[in-house]
Amino acid sequence: MGVIDKVLCPRCGHEPASKSVFQCSECRSILEVHVNTNQLTNADFERMRQSRDQSIWRWFDFFPVSQRSSIVSLGEGGTPLIPAARLGAKLGIEKLYLKNDTVLPTGSLKDRSNSVGVSVAREWEFKTAAVMSTGNAAGSVAAYSAAAGINSVVMVPAGTAPSKIIQARAYGATVVVIDGSFDYEVAKLYKAAVQEFGWYDCLSSNPYRDEGKKSYAYEMVDQFDGKTPDWVIHPTAGGTGIYAMWKGYKELLSLGWIERPPKLVAAQSEAAAPIVAAFEKGLPDVEPIVARETIAESIQVGNPASLGWRALAALRESRGTAIAVSDAEILEAQALTGSLSGVFAEPAAATSVAAAKKLRDTGVIGHDDIVVCNLTGHGLKQPEAIRLTEKDFTPIAPTLDMLRQYIARFEIT
Ligand SMILES: Cc1ncc(COP(=O)(O)O)c(C=O)c1O
Ligand SMILES: [Zn+2]
Repeated sequence: MGVIDKVLCPRCGHEPASKSVFQCSECRSILEVHVNTNQLTNADFERMRQSRDQSIWRWFDFFPVSQRSSIVSLGEGGTPLIPAARLGAKLGIEKLYLKNDTVLPTGSLKDRSNSVGVSVAREWEFKTAAVMSTGNAAGSVAAYSAAAGINSVVMVPAGTAPSKIIQARAYGATVVVIDGSFDYEVAKLYKAAVQEFGWYDCLSSNPYRDEGKKSYAYEMVDQFDGKTPDWVIHPTAGGTGIYAMWKGYKELLSLGWIERPPKLVAAQSEAAAPIVAAFEKGLPDVEPIVARETIAESIQVGNPASLGWRALAALRESRGTAIAVSDAEILEAQALTGSLSGVFAEPAAATSVAAAKKLRDTGVIGHDDIVVCNLTGHGLKQPEAIRLTEKDFTPIAPTLDMLRQYIARFEIT
């Protein structure tokens, strides 16, 4: 059982009287949930590894949910770790693996967080869950709320891909499209709305929800048979993935279940890279920027307000790095990943592969390093990123002769 030891401010050390507040009353920092894992033994590790449950909930003892009956699960987690030999050969990385989170229930990594977050909402008997989102969190919160029997309200900025709005609607969410930027107008309105209506907040400023992405660490340790890769590269927006993975690895380290953690890499789009900028300047915290448009729309975040500084700390403690990639590099990585590994990742997700290529090209990653690229969202989330021409849709006459001419263009045998 995930026993909550304490909820503590990681900045000033203040411990609130209630465990159900998210923000420090003294310094406004987001609080941190500490789950007591000290009592876990090697036998517990084996028990969890052998569990028939392949979802994140086989690691129940690590999550801040006190009763199994509160769990809201759609079978998230346990995603394939694919050895990607052909893609690896192209990038010059012999031991390249893809952590394929495109197969999660709503098609993105957000299910790891929201399964935990909405389980807590159910435990606390909330009636409505809310989130503001660049798209993926919207669908995920909507799906888990539907499964829990909780209402959901999602706020998205104008310009969000229609496929993402459609998905949230399909799960019964109330979708509010807001004329304004994600980081500023949408954020301001969202904050005020959560206060006014008393909704359960499923944002990354919810420290309970954030615990869900620790599951990357547990799963990979299991999949690598107790070992750890040299590098894990994560497409990064608000920094939850980096922060939470590192927390998970530290737990495993303190339990003696791993010998050394991997180096973590935050991959961002050049158009929205405040974490990379802060990392390169050696700053302790992130300076918000106005994000520009990018093909990696799911990670178009200029102000990783609550977790930015903790993601930076995780990158440094792990001796990892942060790297920005251009839209052209992202689209190339998306195409290579699809055609050389059989995984269709959305552009934001393909930033991890673009980053792997860049880090290999500059010699930061060695040719025989073990590298994991997290592929965090399905390509069908943003199908319009694949640019097709008129020709792709133009039918040919149904004759073998026409087919021969057509096929000849593609050098297919
Ligand atoms: C596809 C995809 N990848 C990665 C992320 C990374 O988010 P974070 O840095 O909060 O882990 C997001 C979320 O915004 C996303 O939608
Ligand atoms: Zn504080």
